[in-house]
Amino acid sequence: MSPTDQLFTDGAAYERLMGRWSRRVGDVFLDWIEAPSDRRWLDIGCGTGVFTEQVILGCSPAAVVGLDPSPEQLAFARGRRELTRVEFHVGDAQDLPFSDNSFDIAVMALVIHFVPDPAKAVTEMGRALQPGGTAAAYVWDYTNAGSPTAPLTAAMRAMGLQAPAPPNPQVTSLLALEELWRAAGFEQIGTRAIDISVEFADFEEFWQSMTVPVGPAGKAIAGMPPDGLAQLRSVLEQQMALTADGCIIYEARASAVKGRKKA
Ligand SMILES: C[S@@+](CC[C@H](N)C(=O)[O-])C[C@H]1O[C@@H](n2cnc3c(N)ncnc32)[C@H](O)[C@@H]1O
Repeated sequence: MSPTDQLFTDGAAYERLMGRWSRRVGDVFLDWIEAPSDRRWLDIGCGTGVFTEQVILGCSPAAVVGLDPSPEQLAFARGRRELTRVEFHVGDAQDLPFSDNSFDIAVMALVIHFVPDPAKAVTEMGRALQPGGTAAAYVWDYTNAGSPTAPLTAAMRAMGLQAPAPPNPQVTSLLALEELWRAAGFEQIGTRAIDISVEFADFEEFWQSMTVPVGPAGKAIAGMPPDGLAQLRSVLEQQMALTADGCIIYEARASAVKGRKKA
C-alpha cells in the first residue's frame, strides 16, 4: 500500500478542494484521448470517482474498473448514482491486482505524483493493457505552479514554513511524463498542457475550499496551531487579487500524456 494513502480520507472534502477542478480538466482530456466506445477502462487512483463518472457519462464504456488505496474515497465513489455498474478495488498502482491484457484503456487522473514509484506504476498500466491499448494520464504541473493549491503553498513558503508537496512533483512536467511513457515502451506518445480557470465567489469560499483536511496542503494545515492558521489566512488575504465583484479567479495548468501499447 502507498504511504500517501492517508492523504485522502475524506470524500466530501476532496470534492470541495479538488474534484470540481479535476472534472474541468477531465472534459478536455477525454476529448483529447479520443477513446472509442465499448472499451474496458481501468481508472487507477479513482478516489471519489470524479473522473470515473465522466468516463461512464461520456465514453459509452463496455466496463469500468476503479482502483484506489483509500477505502474512504472508494466509499464515496460507490455512493454515486451513476457508478453502480463500476467495479471498485482497494489497491496500489504499483501492483495492480489484474492479469495481463485485461483492459483497453488505463488512466490516472491526478495520481502519478502521489505514487512512490511512478515508473513502476506506468509499467503496470502497460502490463494490464491489451496490445494496442491506451495508457493516459493528467496531473497538475507542479513544475509550473499549476495546481489550484499553488497560492496556498506560496503563502506557506512566504511564512517560512515548508511547503507541502506530493512525493513526486518532478514527474508532472510534459517532458517527464513523456519520458516515463517512453521508458515503459509505449508508442504514438502525445502530450499537451490543459489550462483551466479556477473561480471562487469570494475570499471566504476560497479559504474554506483550500483548508479542508485532504491532500498534502490540507493535511499540513490541519496540523497548524490556531495562530499559524490565522497568519496564513492573513497572508492569503493580502496575496490574492479580487475581481471588481469580489471573486478570486486564477489559472491552473495540468500536464497530460497518452500512448499506445505495442500491438
Ligand atoms: C488527487 S486524488 C485524484 C482522484 C481522482 N482520480 C480525481 O481525478 O479526482 C489522488 C488519488 O490517488 C490515490 N493514490 C495515492 N497513492 C496511490 C497509489 N499508490 N496507487 C493508486 N492510487 C493512489 C489517492 O488515494 C487519491 O484518491
